[in-house]
Amino acid sequence: MAYYKINGGRPLEGQVTISGAKNAALAIIPAAILAGQPCVIENLPIIEDVHVLTEILRLMGAEVELYENGCMRIDPTKIDNYEVTFEMVSKLRASYYLLGAMLGRYGHAALALPGGCSIGNRPIDFHIKGMRALGAEVEIRNGIVYAYADELRGAEIYLDMASVGATINIMLAACRAEGQTVITNAAKEPHVVDVANFLNMMGASIKGAGTDVIRIKGRKELHGTSYAIIPDQIEAGTFMIAAVATKGNVVLNNIIPTHLEAISAKLMECGAHIAEGDDGTEFFLQVQGGDRLRAVNIKTLPYPGFPTDLQQPMMALLTMSKGNSYIVENIFEDRFNHVPELIRMGASINVNGRTATIEGVEKLYGANVRATDLRAGAALIVAALAAEGTTIVRNIHFIDRGYERFEQKLRALGADIERIEED
Ligand code: UD1
Repeated sequence: MAYYKINGGRPLEGQVTISGAKNAALAIIPAAILAGQPCVIENLPIIEDVHVLTEILRLMGAEVELYENGCMRIDPTKIDNYEVTFEMVSKLRASYYLLGAMLGRYGHAALALPGGCSIGNRPIDFHIKGMRALGAEVEIRNGIVYAYADELRGAEIYLDMASVGATINIMLAACRAEGQTVITNAAKEPHVVDVANFLNMMGASIKGAGTDVIRIKGRKELHGTSYAIIPDQIEAGTFMIAAVATKGNVVLNNIIPTHLEAISAKLMECGAHIAEGDDGTEFFLQVQGGDRLRAVNIKTLPYPGFPTDLQQPMMALLTMSKGNSYIVENIFEDRFNHVPELIRMGASINVNGRTATIEGVEKLYGANVRATDLRAGAALIVAALAAEGTTIVRNIHFIDRGYERFEQKLRALGADIERIEED
């Protein structure tokens, strides 16, 4: 098992290039199944979740080539295995997208209930409700979702919560349904728009992605395409928070500033300086930390609100601010597993239900800590980079799931971080 050893207290300085968006990649790769021809996807992050998904598609019979430059070619035409087993999906929650994609393309799917990060009870009832509304018969037996439809028919679907996963999954299946589907209270996250753009490039007709009503006109066939996915909003936000936590000065390249408005606004409220620039070919963002930061209050919300995926790294930063901060986690009911680990480093945090109260301390100190999920891992890295002394972060396989070349990027910014492989 590998772990990170981090000697904290060094400001991050320099430039970092943000990778392609993990959550877009995890939907766009299965979406390629819907095409009757090969697709080429560019700007993919080379992360463990992408490797796992690549392996799943290969086991299904697809030909998949993944190149080091983040380019993938998927030929789905030879898929002949429509059963996705627990062993295949247990590491990856986003495997649920195979349900919509397989149902749309083949009219049937058998998918073991997905794994992924433990951040609360994560049901897929909205996904199933959506597939049923499209005319599929769906049953769960022995932990496997079986879905079947002679013909999918467009439908009006209202989501009780603006679920990212359900919105995308319904879009995938509805692309091949007969007639029009309308999703109301749809999720508006940037990767929902990215998946819709990819599907439209394949010949789909999706309108309204990025608003809370999405209209999809089903098509009999979709064709192959070539598509570059958007930069990762959450990876960018993590580097922004790390820059501020270490009182550093970092320029982020390959970003879309509007996707980062909620995080920029909160960091500025804390006292950080953020400047947006455009070098003529692309946008960049310069993030500078100040002296001791002010406390701020955060409520996680669906996009364009503050993203739940940055709640944990942001809490690491707020442990060192001046005054009391309050964080309300509105999206997932159990996303405070990182709190005991931050307390080991000297933080003062009290959790009551969905609210965490953080009493800022002067500094954190290095300690032995464990990541409990992907973004908890990111939070511990932020804390360790800013802390006095040496921190050992274990369970870094969680971090490998979602951050591309994390330690290399941090080292290039001046961090003293080492990955140590244990027997
Ligand atoms: C996606 C992201 C994840 C992010 C989350 C919220 C991917 C691969 N993952 O996760 O990084 O933290 O969006 O932005 O894109 N819910 C139900 N029933 C359902 C579906 C969801 O009750 O069928 C609830 C969830 O438990 C949660 C809320 O709805 O409380 C939002 O979940 P959702 O947006 O679906 O998150 P994910 O797609 O799992």
